[in-house]
Amino acid sequence: MQIYPRSYQDSSASNDGVGDLRGIISRLGYLKGEKDSLGIDAIWLSPIFTSPMHDFGYDVSDYKEIDPLFGTMQDFDDLLREAHARDIRVMLDFVPNHTSSEHQWFIEACKSRTNPYRDYYIFRDARPDGSPPNNWLSVFGGSAWQWHEQTKQYYLHSFLSQQPDLNWQNTAVQQAMADVLRFWFGKGVDGIRADAIRWMGKNIDLLDDPINSAFTAGQDPYHAVEHRYSRFSPELNGYLKIMTDVAREHDDKILIFEDHLDSLSPVESQIRRINSIDPEVAGAFNFEAMHRQFSARSFSEMINRYQAYLPAQARAFYCFSNHDESRLASRFGEKQARMLAVLQLTLPGTPVLYYGQEIGMRDGVISPEEVQDPFEKRVPNKGLGRDPARTPMQWSDEPMAGFTKLNRSWLPVNSDYVANNVRLQQHSNNSLLSLHKTLFNLRKQHHVLLHGEFKHLQTTSDIFMFERKGEERFIVVCNFSEQTAHVLLPHNLDCEAHVVAAAHNAAMVGEKVRDSVTLEALEALVLAC
Ligand code: NOJ
Repeated sequence: MQIYPRSYQDSSASNDGVGDLRGIISRLGYLKGEKDSLGIDAIWLSPIFTSPMHDFGYDVSDYKEIDPLFGTMQDFDDLLREAHARDIRVMLDFVPNHTSSEHQWFIEACKSRTNPYRDYYIFRDARPDGSPPNNWLSVFGGSAWQWHEQTKQYYLHSFLSQQPDLNWQNTAVQQAMADVLRFWFGKGVDGIRADAIRWMGKNIDLLDDPINSAFTAGQDPYHAVEHRYSRFSPELNGYLKIMTDVAREHDDKILIFEDHLDSLSPVESQIRRINSIDPEVAGAFNFEAMHRQFSARSFSEMINRYQAYLPAQARAFYCFSNHDESRLASRFGEKQARMLAVLQLTLPGTPVLYYGQEIGMRDGVISPEEVQDPFEKRVPNKGLGRDPARTPMQWSDEPMAGFTKLNRSWLPVNSDYVANNVRLQQHSNNSLLSLHKTLFNLRKQHHVLLHGEFKHLQTTSDIFMFERKGEERFIVVCNFSEQTAHVLLPHNLDCEAHVVAAAHNAAMVGEKVRDSVTLEALEALVLAC
């Protein structure tokens, strides 16, 4: 479960309208270890390190300290201990591509061209006409180069100018970052989510990116060029291997790379990358569901293709929503979100959920005065802002949804919290929260859902059906249409099955199924053979 610490729970000790570590500790029982717990196995915390918060923690000024906004190192140690006591593993968000411009390394690097830290970053001369060294763009709008007046050179920042890119070609940088990982693994952290890895490897000669001829005005301006040279250079795999080697120095640690799939980095190359590094230790998110059309054919195609490429020793990490994208229930609809819960939690590997996904939280409405996200501030009104997906967790119908005792929070609580919150859903057997509990439970009892073989059975314009098999056998049937569907089970199934989970109609659980099954609109069923 991904937790965005600013928005999970404000503890009464700080009570400043921003979530913190003590707040997370107070909610661990919700996640695991108590009678009504959700039953998750691990939490990944978005960055909690010291930061001026220009990009809400993805601009780190000290990788080995906790930002006071979130608490102290003691609070973190307590969180780790209490999570482990409940058998919850803890993953941190490591930001290897860039530091904050307030990091001591960058402050030093800016002192002079000969400072020993200068080469920790990528400083270059202007072109003869004074313009930036090449045409690379910042993800958050404008050129990726910022002029540094004092030393009369540009420096590279793939994100905000307050997030200068590190120079991973420099072995001192490699060692310093490995040292950061060693520090956290040594403390007992179980895993790392590594941010924005594709930017770590850039073309050494800083060649211009080709112009994207398909680009149209109105699109995200970042896509005006094809990012051929500014990302994914061949050295990248070696940099990632440095991280997995550190993980290997300890027992039982994992790394998940934020490694998007796109036309320049299709599934094949992502899998090749992971394979050439260390597939037992490291995996990559599969974010494709966040950019897909909601249809049986689209989801079936993306899952079949991914599973076909995934080697036996590698693990899939299907991620259907996160802190950068519109929430699942807003993107596809509430009924659709229920159906996708069944799908995500019966796919192979480790499903990664985003806080609030389990209750179907929706995007918040953020007025222009309330905007916090630097992306929305710099590239406004294109629907790129990420604040809507980051509003406070909706715990109850108490004021401020039980998130804070203060009467305000860093982002507004979504106004639908009275009708949609954890407490309400805990009292209903048919809530999305209950469905998640059922599915987590099922995964726990039947390891075949984690490790078993994935076999595609059928795809039509409405239906996606697959099988998970090993020591046991499950069939998952998803009806992507708004119509009732009668589905014939394959002849060769040769088993009498019964329904063990249903996205909508819980009354079907226990029902026996032999040759065919009827699914209402947007229903998904898990059948045990
Ligand atoms: C990806 C993170 O998910 C996003 O939130 C952040 O702004 C960028 N990387 C830069 O670190």
